[in-house]
Amino acid sequence: MPEMPATPAVCPSLMSADPLRLGEQVSALLDAGARVFHVDVMDGRFVPNLMLGTETTRGVAALARPRGGLVDVHLMVEGPREAIGWYAPHADMISVHVEADPHPHQLLSEIREAGCLAGLAINPGTPVEMVLPLVERLDYVNCMGVNPGFSGQSFIPETLGRLGALRDLLPPRVAVQVDGGIGPANIADARAFGADLLVSASAIFGAADPVASYADLAERVASA
Ligand code: DX5
Ligand code: ZN
Repeated sequence: MPEMPATPAVCPSLMSADPLRLGEQVSALLDAGARVFHVDVMDGRFVPNLMLGTETTRGVAALARPRGGLVDVHLMVEGPREAIGWYAPHADMISVHVEADPHPHQLLSEIREAGCLAGLAINPGTPVEMVLPLVERLDYVNCMGVNPGFSGQSFIPETLGRLGALRDLLPPRVAVQVDGGIGPANIADARAFGADLLVSASAIFGAADPVASYADLAERVASA
């Protein structure tokens, strides 16, 4: 089973990478110390957008894994059971949304059986207590900071309190991830409220120098 990073990690979200320069950008971020690469999978039903596929994920894994990198697949799809099997060979971590399937216990068990760390993602309107009955099957909780579907949305400020509540509810072995709207203005706060895995797309790839932006975010996390 892959191991969760021992220290807080900024996780570049590849949905905003340049699709024609993806390998180059992933390699440069590995050089800069990034170790968790977040791959958003959207089905056009659970969220109103469509991306990223198994072949892209396979390519990222081929680059990142030999250098100690982890591929974190965030499934924003209705009924994600089949997709777990499609993505697991190229993933080290997989999260599914509690809102996307009536049987999350089974899904989380299947993620672990497929050899990946198991995550549960919760939308901003979902009570944090929803994760409690599933805690034994969880390795991380992805607490959304926006309603999923697009990068570049504004952070929902109530998320900070939700991160703190999750940190209090969950045992230390379960990592807390925050995803959506994270950038230089709020990443230190998100860390201070308990986030261990801090996902960022537009603040990294929307910048003129994605590596410098990654390094700046990582520095803010390290000194939070
Ligand atoms: C949102 C995705 C996020 C997204 C974050 O639906 O799950 O991972 O890439 O994008 P930013 O960091 O730009 O909000
Ligand atoms: Zn995501």
